[in-house]
Amino acid sequence: MIDRYGRKIEYLRMSVTDRCNLRCIYCMKEGGVCKRCHSDILSIEELTDIARAAYALGVRKIRLTGGEPLVRKGILTLCKNIKAIDPMIELGMTTNGSLLKEYAGKLKESGVDRLNISLDTLNAETYHTITRRGNLSDVLDGVKAVQNAGFVRTKINTVLIGGVNENDILDMMRLAENDDLQVRFIELMPMDIVRGWDKSRFISVDVVEQHLHSAELIGYDGVARIYRPTGYKGTVGVISPLSRSFCDRCNKIRVTADGKLKPCLHSGEEIDLRGLSGEALTAAILQGVDSKPKCHRLGEYHTDTARNMNEIGG
Ligand code: GTP
Ligand code: 5AD
Ligand code: SF4
Repeated sequence: MIDRYGRKIEYLRMSVTDRCNLRCIYCMKEGGVCKRCHSDILSIEELTDIARAAYALGVRKIRLTGGEPLVRKGILTLCKNIKAIDPMIELGMTTNGSLLKEYAGKLKESGVDRLNISLDTLNAETYHTITRRGNLSDVLDGVKAVQNAGFVRTKINTVLIGGVNENDILDMMRLAENDDLQVRFIELMPMDIVRGWDKSRFISVDVVEQHLHSAELIGYDGVARIYRPTGYKGTVGVISPLSRSFCDRCNKIRVTADGKLKPCLHSGEEIDLRGLSGEALTAAILQGVDSKPKCHRLGEYHTDTARNMNEIGG
């Protein structure tokens, strides 16, 4: 699939639930999601059908997101279903890591190739402040479990929040010093819940790159610019949706937990995939690709989508 701007679209992100066992301050309201809306969530069969239709159109990489994908019933079945379409599909998952101690081995057995783990600080108190209810030790145990289960080049996602974790940058980087990890620092995006936040909360990845002057610049890996600091086994990356957009290289489409295809993370446009199958589903996916905007209109105080990140999956 090639969009209007010549970009090859081969990466599908599917949010399998908007629920989460944590409540990160930039992602989700403290009260969580409304239970009565839950009949609207795509079934495992519907998610599999969408993956199959996207594969037939050229998608070769699928990432499962949430909310927290590991709280979704049937998640392992979905992973196996996707791998059964074609074992060559690169199957990834973005998780908060809190349940990985239990799930790492099962995910490996179910065909998951790569894991990205959200972790914004190594300070237990700050971790609890950001996630409102998480335990840092669960995630650290999860990272170990993932490595023991044989996952390689696992990525750690760290959202930069001015005044909250900006002093933790060096500690976070050091996670990659002796381990095969890629620690990526992400600029905070102004989704609905974050929109009113003070400007000082939005900090550019420049603050990270200041520490990387003597590091080797490896190049881009997806949306991240990657460096290897001297002597490091792993790597450090920066994701800069605000200060340096990467839309010209965008290769993805997204599906929300309630079945809406989003041509862009930040666009208001959504195409309903629910109830579609066969040619109608294929046509709706192609329509989504055709309506991908050239770039988002993202600013510290602006995104065109009314959704919070837990409904889109990043
Ligand atoms: P890889 O498959 O490892 O390249 O994963 P990824 O970086 O595509 O996915 P992940 O879920 O780990 O996302 C990391 C961060 O990048 C999250 O904060 C996402 O919201 C953000 N991100 C990913 N893709 C896009 C994009 O197309 N636009 C913007 N603005 N942000 C994105
Ligand atoms: N800005 C940037 N990244 C965010 N994430 C969640 N909300 C935001 C936001 N407002 C990150 C999570 C996770 C990934 C899917 O998106 O930390 O790593
Ligand atoms: Fe849950 Fe991830 Fe959102 Fe945190 S960022 S509340 S872990 S979905």
